Amino acid sequence: MLISAKKILTAARAKRYAVPAFNVNNLEILKAVMSAAEKIRSPVIIQTSEGAIEYAGIEYLAAMIRVAAKGKIPVVMHLDHGKDLRYVKLALANGYNSIMIDGSALPYLKNVAITKKVVALAHPKGVSVEAEIGALAGIEDLISVKEKDAALTNPEEAVRFAKDTKCDSLAIAIGTSHGAYKFKGKTHLDIGRLKKIAKLVALPIVLHGASGVREDLKTMAEKYGAKLGEARGVMDQDIKAAIKNGVAKINIDTDLRLAFTAGMREALHDLPKVIDPRKLLEPSNILMREVAMRKMRLFGSAGKA
Ligand code: G3H
Ligand code: 13P
Ligand code: ZN
Repeated sequence: MLISAKKILTAARAKRYAVPAFNVNNLEILKAVMSAAEKIRSPVIIQTSEGAIEYAGIEYLAAMIRVAAKGKIPVVMHLDHGKDLRYVKLALANGYNSIMIDGSALPYLKNVAITKKVVALAHPKGVSVEAEIGALAGIEDLISVKEKDAALTNPEEAVRFAKDTKCDSLAIAIGTSHGAYKFKGKTHLDIGRLKKIAKLVALPIVLHGASGVREDLKTMAEKYGAKLGEARGVMDQDIKAAIKNGVAKINIDTDLRLAFTAGMREALHDLPKVIDPRKLLEPSNILMREVAMRKMRLFGSAGKA
């Protein structure tokens, strides 16, 4: 069933678990995620980026997600990193019930202004709004305390931003970054900063750039020719600490991409005579499903549907 993001994320923060938000670009990813959610009864946020919308077309995506939401599993239809109001309006027109407006690269007042604009468009329709304050940056690139403070979310600014915009959930920066190359060594997230933010902001907190970049999947992809170098993600223990301290929505894209790639490479290597895409996609689908189930268990959302 289609469920309100505000409702499910508020419950998640109160009960100290997090709802996984998976980026979906095609039918295979969506089906793998839904199959995982059904198997272990987890609510799920299905999100599409502006890039996904350009790739697949919003009508195809919206139709597929609506089918996914027809079953018993609580599903949120979410626009990820809406930056251009054109995509926000497109998502609203296509039945999305949750919108992220990402003004994090803008100066404070401009971020507030665009977020308020989206809240004004979304709230009358009963649509939830996620907004972002602070810049996602690899924590190791921010060497000095001054640099860290300038880029990562400032707790006082976060509470002011939440009040100024009336957003429903808040994405913050505590040292994660998008993609497969997050850290050089065993760097941890700034959980102290998260604690300060969570003390001041009662809203569900959102963690972007949270993929773990599993070593075994990296090795598997590399066995069949991938070159992933120093790819490294967020450790499970940091994810658990983040959830304990207020994070209620966790975004995962890279880990699904890695599973897809590892499976695809293995299939192409092992099945040189096969040209049926359904057969070639099978290992990817199985791996993506397994990745999604592991996240649901790690985030504590398993059994909450
Ligand atoms: O936050 C970024 C997500 O991983 C989506 O990536 O813009 O390439 O679809 P994308
Ligand atoms: P990852 O690249 O770590 O999977 O993060 C995805 C994300 O934040 C999508 O908004
Ligand atoms: Zn993101």
